[in-house]
Amino acid sequence: MAALLVCAGALLLWSGMPPVTTSEAGVPIQGPSATLIYDDWYPALRTDHLKRGKLATAMLLGIPLVLGRRNDGRVFAMRDSCPHRGIPLSVGWFGGDRVTCRYHGWEFEPCSGRCELIPSLSSHDHLDATKIYASAYPCEERDGHAWVYVPGPGSGKRAQGAELRAVPELAKFGPRYRTAYLTADLPCNVDHGIIGLMDPAHGPFVHQAWWWRSRASIREKTKKFEPIAEGFRMSAHAPSANSAPYKLLGVYGQPVETTIDFMLPNRRTEIIRAGDKWFSSLTTVTPVTASTCRIDVIAAWNVFYWVPFLTPIAKFFGAKFVRQDQETMIQQAEGLKHNPSLMLIDDADKPAKWYFALKQTRLEGTGKHPLEGAVELHWRS
Ligand code: FES
Ligand SMILES: [Fe+2]
Repeated sequence: MAALLVCAGALLLWSGMPPVTTSEAGVPIQGPSATLIYDDWYPALRTDHLKRGKLATAMLLGIPLVLGRRNDGRVFAMRDSCPHRGIPLSVGWFGGDRVTCRYHGWEFEPCSGRCELIPSLSSHDHLDATKIYASAYPCEERDGHAWVYVPGPGSGKRAQGAELRAVPELAKFGPRYRTAYLTADLPCNVDHGIIGLMDPAHGPFVHQAWWWRSRASIREKTKKFEPIAEGFRMSAHAPSANSAPYKLLGVYGQPVETTIDFMLPNRRTEIIRAGDKWFSSLTTVTPVTASTCRIDVIAAWNVFYWVPFLTPIAKFFGAKFVRQDQETMIQQAEGLKHNPSLMLIDDADKPAKWYFALKQTRLEGTGKHPLEGAVELHWRS
């Protein structure tokens, strides 16, 4: 998967694909679980699933969600559980305004979660329905994702109206661009998904292909890294000379430069620029449960804007590429089931070590950054 990261980029030019697989990750491979990072934004689902008057479900950090779009266009996410007796709200009704529970018909305003009506109340009852809330989470639409802010367990309604972190957004550098989206379920916990994403050494083995690279193309690399807020940056550099897709960008006759950032809790961005041509991607690895995750890639670009059939061709290769990562992780999940002890080596696994240190810092609130300044890493890939 690292290819999506350390190497890829220019390759991720596909669009509108269905999930590569949904069944494999659904296989009950129970591996070790990861500690989860709460109080941040995660992509729950694509907003084209949010049809008028319909409810959709998703799972984030082990929390079942029901999502929808109100008549005024605003998207919402609630815990998929009625506060009365726990039946999933997703089996109820939604007319575009209120979510109605199918058990006793309580009605909820879905953005706030506020109960607006309890049909069973009689003139003898003094219960104020509007004092009752279903759990509703901050939910925002960006780049075709419904991003949901997942507060820590027990902090529920406090998140509403509180000062939240910025909603993640794909960087774009002009009004005209094409976009694409790709997703794959991974049967491992989010930590393995993320360190797979930042692993430079698997490329020549997992992603052997004439159009990408082979074992024989392994060569020594030196990359500069620098600390950024809650993450690190692979400083702007000329991309891998041994990858065909990057070579293609050479046709513009401009120096090609790529910058890759990783930021907690789960985000990798890559920006490639050659003069006024650009390619931008945002990859996230999202915990679906404590022991499974999902990778989502959104990309936008204006490179080769006018080349016909480019999107389907790139989509074919991009899907193949992600499938190679996914298959490897399914195999890895078999091994991880037995909880083996593992190792991280220098320098190829150094970014993984930084990820774990950054995560520790976030969980403990120490504010200590694992990188004190710019450093150079060396590896062969
Ligand atoms: S369980 Fe939802 S209204 Fe009773
Ligand atoms: Fe990869």
